[in-house]
Amino acid sequence: MRNKVTKAIFPVAGLGTRFLPATKSVPKEIMTLVDRPLVQYAIDEARAAGIKEFIFVTSRGKGALEDYFDHAPQLEQELKKKGKDKLLEVLKSTNMDSGEIAYIRQHKALGLGHAVWCARRLIGNEPFAVMLPDDVIAADKPCLQQMVEAYEETGGNMVAAMEVPADKASSYGILDVKEDMGSMVSVRAMVEKPKAGEAPSNLAVIGRYILSPQVLRNLNKMKSGAGGEIQLTDAIADEIDGEGVYGYRFNGRRYDCGSKAGFLQATVAFGLEREELRDDLEAYLHEVVAARKAAE
Ligand code: G1P
Repeated sequence: MRNKVTKAIFPVAGLGTRFLPATKSVPKEIMTLVDRPLVQYAIDEARAAGIKEFIFVTSRGKGALEDYFDHAPQLEQELKKKGKDKLLEVLKSTNMDSGEIAYIRQHKALGLGHAVWCARRLIGNEPFAVMLPDDVIAADKPCLQQMVEAYEETGGNMVAAMEVPADKASSYGILDVKEDMGSMVSVRAMVEKPKAGEAPSNLAVIGRYILSPQVLRNLNKMKSGAGGEIQLTDAIADEIDGEGVYGYRFNGRRYDCGSKAGFLQATVAFGLEREELRDDLEAYLHEVVAARKAAE
């Protein structure tokens, strides 16, 4: 029997400069899609996949993120008094049990690989997940759950994968595919942010990983890679000839909420998912599009 994946690392130390001035005081990860912070989507997805321990790698200025996960007894009391049971339920569904959540500081912004490495002592010697909350994935079966099920067959290391337009490949970790088995591919090489025209394919790594603890040991000796940062991609690539690396083409739609365009698209998509918002929002979108067309 393979070890179950019960721990997940959430690297949330980034400055979020693309969302300035908002991120001057609000951590990017608690910016909201409709009414839920980005990070809540990641937590819910992790829980659905069987994750029991949530490890956040934070940095200076992320206090609001820790507060978000705290219980809010006063607010709960207030809602109870007013008989707002539905809201109370919503609020309680975000509560984390004591000991379920841990925070580690990344003291220097040395890259994603370094952020993950900062959590090494909390992981120990078992497989673990990494989730990048910027990548929000809408799916019938949550993406990490799909991956955990696939991982039970393969073991090794698994990254979520998605085809991206060729001119966007240099923004991603890119997979060189050895064998394409449909939803699963075995990986021959991985390149972090290849230069234009040098990508081995257009199959990109998306921010969901299931990794063996060996990757943490690889990170111990990792030198800086693309962009002068310590790259998680490089530490995973070291396992291609070791425990193996697989790409998993997940079912679902990924929104790049690290970009403004992606964030806006996700806001619209998640808004349309809500029964109470759908009709008005849809009517408004039609109206806007029609008005723009008429003005052309
Ligand atoms: C990170 C990873 C990259 C991956 C991407 C997915 O890059 O380093 O391999 O393709 O996330 O979102 P970042 O977007 O943090 O620059």
